[in-house]
Amino acid sequence: MQQNILPEGVQTPYYFYDTGLLDYTLDLVQQAALPCNYRVHYAVKANANPVLLRHISHRGLGADCVSGNEIRRALECGFAASDIVYAGVGKTDREIEYALRQGIYCFNCESLPEIEVIDGIAGRLGMKARIALRVNPNVDAHTHHYITTGIEENKFGIYLYDLRRVIAESLRLAHVELLGLHFHIGSQITDMTVFRGLCLRVNEILEGIRERGVNFSYINFGGGLGIDYQEPDEHPCADFKAYFNTFAEFFQPTPHLQVHFELGRSIVAQCGSLISTVLYVKEGKKRKFVVLDAGMNDLLRPALYQAYHKIENVTSRLPEEKYDVVGPVCESADCFGKDVTLPATRRGDMIAIRSCGAYGEAMASRYNLRDLAPAVYWASDQG
Ligand code: LLP
Repeated sequence: MQQNILPEGVQTPYYFYDTGLLDYTLDLVQQAALPCNYRVHYAVKANANPVLLRHISHRGLGADCVSGNEIRRALECGFAASDIVYAGVGKTDREIEYALRQGIYCFNCESLPEIEVIDGIAGRLGMKARIALRVNPNVDAHTHHYITTGIEENKFGIYLYDLRRVIAESLRLAHVELLGLHFHIGSQITDMTVFRGLCLRVNEILEGIRERGVNFSYINFGGGLGIDYQEPDEHPCADFKAYFNTFAEFFQPTPHLQVHFELGRSIVAQCGSLISTVLYVKEGKKRKFVVLDAGMNDLLRPALYQAYHKIENVTSRLPEEKYDVVGPVCESADCFGKDVTLPATRRGDMIAIRSCGAYGEAMASRYNLRDLAPAVYWASDQG
């Protein structure tokens, strides 16, 4: 963990962002995606922090939003409306109208009733909405069940057996223009054979559709690329090359098809850490607890998904011991790690919880009326 994480005058807990690493990561994304002519949108849900969003929009990425407020934030932070795609199973009428008035590129639609509502609102505004159908391809991402989205029994997307009917109905509507298909099968996927499976399934789906005379101009594979939570210093960047090369190798696009992606975690996860102070070290009969001033309201992932985050004591150099590292919130789930090996830890030591840039600050809450953690930025010299 870098040294400059202890700025003066900022109270813990806070999110610490290395914008140098973020910029370097964005370089790698572009180097890997550009030769294939892939269009990358950043999934704003992973982290909507305006400073990070500005770094990302300056590099020319598009945005993938899931609410009207995310669209507003993306526009405020420099993303062009024409580079925004909008997904989500429950878009409200107000959000749809706002997105249409802003002139976003495409609605990724999850059901026929939603498409009919978009058609109605676009008609009332005298507009035509560009849409894509989010298809649930029934490909198992083999990741945590809360973040698997592409298998048949979950709420996301249009099911394969229904796709033909939804395409036919959409083509009949006067105020929507059907551009193509959208997929997203889950998150934190590090096994490239999963993406290969997605490519092969999408090839089949597109072939079936072409046989019926429909040609699409847009295909969106969603996000999902995973990062190394175990060793963030050894692998500070996701394997973007392997990811995009998998699509280049196994996906067979037709000539006028523009291929889009929506990466969230892989872009921002490693540039963020949650920095916290040790309040107390409490000794039980069998266990020692390190009680932090950061809690599950600041970082929900361990409590919600049993997610692993590397925990480091950045101030102690003493011999190692084992601790359960917990937060102050009145819930047993408020635990960041069990049996964590740390240098002997004392009140006042500083703890860094690593790989928190994605779905950390974005999922923070004010549970227990705790304050939201502020953010601190540092531009390391990467690359
Ligand atoms: N596109 C769609 C339609 C999505 O639903 C998501 C994430 C993404 C793109 C971005 O996926 P990524 O590249 O970040 O894997 N809170 C959970 C992750 C939820 C992911 C939700 N959808 C976590 O902390 O692990």
